[in-house]
Amino acid sequence: MNEELIPIHEVANTVSEAIETRHSIREYEQTPIPEEVLQRIFAKALRSPSWKNSQPWKVHILSGEKRKELAESLTNAAKTSNPIPETNWPESYPSDAKKRMFDLGMKIYGVAGIDRKDKEARDQFMLRNFSFFGAPTAVFITSKFDLNFFVGIDLGCFLQSVLLLAREEGLGTFPQAALGAFPDVVRNALNLPKEEKVIMGLSIGYPKANSELNRYHTPREGADDLIRFY
Ligand SMILES: Cc1cc2nc3c(=O)[nH]c(=O)nc-3n(C[C@H](O)[C@H](O)[C@H](O)COP(=O)(O)O)c2cc1C
Repeated sequence: MNEELIPIHEVANTVSEAIETRHSIREYEQTPIPEEVLQRIFAKALRSPSWKNSQPWKVHILSGEKRKELAESLTNAAKTSNPIPETNWPESYPSDAKKRMFDLGMKIYGVAGIDRKDKEARDQFMLRNFSFFGAPTAVFITSKFDLNFFVGIDLGCFLQSVLLLAREEGLGTFPQAALGAFPDVVRNALNLPKEEKVIMGLSIGYPKANSELNRYHTPREGADDLIRFY
């Protein structure tokens, strides 16, 4: 499935279907997610593999008033200060990746109806990261481990489990490094000790129906280019 605009799928019945129909959701219904659904997703995701079964993750799930308060604090931090992530955000990329990243921006702004030259509109759109793109629930992933490469892989395995299990429940998700941009704000809100590093977060909720933005399905390079059999 590589068309650019696809219908929004309800639930996924197989792993393949979950992988094919998962994409980042940027507009959400206000319907709250039942607590037992969130419990199912995250309890199952704990089965994810990790280096020597070290399980470097902790998960913090916020809905209702707590989610609203943190959205306000993070948005305020984003308006008044520069990001200070505890993980190194990548700074340079191979040229083919740069092209894909540029294309992503062009496409998303296009579908969102934002003129690329309109910096004010782009900034407003970027700020929506910090109010979880309107999702009813926000999730933060933290770790007290030294953030080496393999811890990153472990956390990535955990993240993908969550994204696919959410699809199985008919939910949409949006993984966001931006939610690790202001770690002290998150730590204060959740009363976390300094050694608990705020890696990233994700927005989760029922995808808004009839949303062009939600129908945008990012392309991928072809299997012939990236996979070799010997
Ligand atoms: C680790 C990670 C961090 C991301 N952080 C952000 C972010 O901070 N803001 C954002 O708009 N998108 C973020 N994304 C979403 C990616 O841009 C998106 O996954 C990618 O373009 C592929 O599109 P798809 O998720 O729709 O398949 C992140 C994705 C991942 C996996």
